[in-house]
Amino acid sequence: MSETSTPKNGGDKPPSPRMKRYWRVAVLANIKDESKPKPEGVPPDAFADYDHVETVQSIQNAIETDGHETTFILADENLPYALKEYKPDICFNIAEGLGGDAREAQVPALLEMLRIPYTGSRVLTNAIALDKTLTKRIWRDRNLPVAPFQEFTSGDELVRPELKYPLFVKPAREGTGMGVDMHARVQNETELRERAKYVINAYQQPALVETFLPGREFTVGQLGRPDVKRFSRHPEWYDADGFHRLPILELKTEKTATPGIYSHAAKAQQLGEEGAPEYICPAEVEPELAKKLHHFALRGHLLLFATDVSRVDFRLDADGNPRLIEINPLPGLTPGYSDLCIQAESEGIRYEDLILEILYMAAGRWGLLEPRELPPMKKPGKKK
Ligand SMILES: Nc1ncnc2c1ncn2[C@@H]1O[C@H](COP(=O)(O)OP(=O)(O)O)[C@@H](O)[C@H]1O
Ligand SMILES: [Mg+2]
Repeated sequence: MSETSTPKNGGDKPPSPRMKRYWRVAVLANIKDESKPKPEGVPPDAFADYDHVETVQSIQNAIETDGHETTFILADENLPYALKEYKPDICFNIAEGLGGDAREAQVPALLEMLRIPYTGSRVLTNAIALDKTLTKRIWRDRNLPVAPFQEFTSGDELVRPELKYPLFVKPAREGTGMGVDMHARVQNETELRERAKYVINAYQQPALVETFLPGREFTVGQLGRPDVKRFSRHPEWYDADGFHRLPILELKTEKTATPGIYSHAAKAQQLGEEGAPEYICPAEVEPELAKKLHHFALRGHLLLFATDVSRVDFRLDADGNPRLIEINPLPGLTPGYSDLCIQAESEGIRYEDLILEILYMAAGRWGLLEPRELPPMKKPGKKK
């Protein structure tokens, strides 16, 4: 599947002098096809993290407003051939991959092999971030606050003494609330083993067992990197360290089908629909908590070598302290619906600018854009 279109709005203006010409941009995605029956043996929420074709169209439209040419290429087995034919200057990657233990890293790995530039995080980050257990081991090693956890591969493991009920059981390598419903919260060992075995069998992967975090839920987005101002279309967005902290989003799920849990069922509801979560952005939080959430989110991003953009999910523990749950280096980008888009919108960042910013940061890293000269750093003045 591949549809090329010519630029719409920016087409008659010349490209910026910092680029040789407008780019050919391929948007790479896996698409939900609800008309097709699911293959046998997959769980009911399989492929929930795939995108709708309208999201791809929105990304293409956003990129075209700046004058570039775009095409959509389906990230399936034919991707290498389609890339050779289209010869993109750069790919805008939102592909979730086709199975295996690190599917979100498949497309980045292919693009590295073909030496084609692409947006966002690279192979290692996408591989590790999909694996919530590995991610938490790295964070725990560097003293970021995570809930006590244990990975189950058979369901018969001895339960570690630090795991106190209630516990929470989820697939170690999924997203979009897959495998998460009211049965994910377990009260005793019988329920724990039953749920762990269900997850292991249905999702064909380990089950991650964690202390249940009963507090408020937040997600924190960030854009940037230390040299961002040389390439950004909006250098004014960024703090002195090169990062832009998006407003914190609180997710209230009490009125959803899965009260207290941001499940697949809750995530599937459209904004404002009955049973949809309430999205509060900016969240009403004490400045001290806000500071901690932003600080931990950026540390979590940097420790996994995430690049240019990510979203980190948090919940508060029983004592009100934030705990990192997971990082999304490929955050959803559906306008008006995905968490990162809601965060950007809440501070007046237009969807087009968010998408173009992700593209320009990548273009800068891959040498498609001349760095902008920055004024020399001011030397600290002498005290008089
Ligand atoms: N340890 C936990 N305690 C309480 N709720 C949790 C815990 N881990 C996950 N959840 C709930 O499950 C949801 C999905 O979990 P998460 O790890 O973020 O996976 P996904 O990749 O599907 O977003 C979270 O948004 C949260 O509501
Ligand atoms: Mg999550």
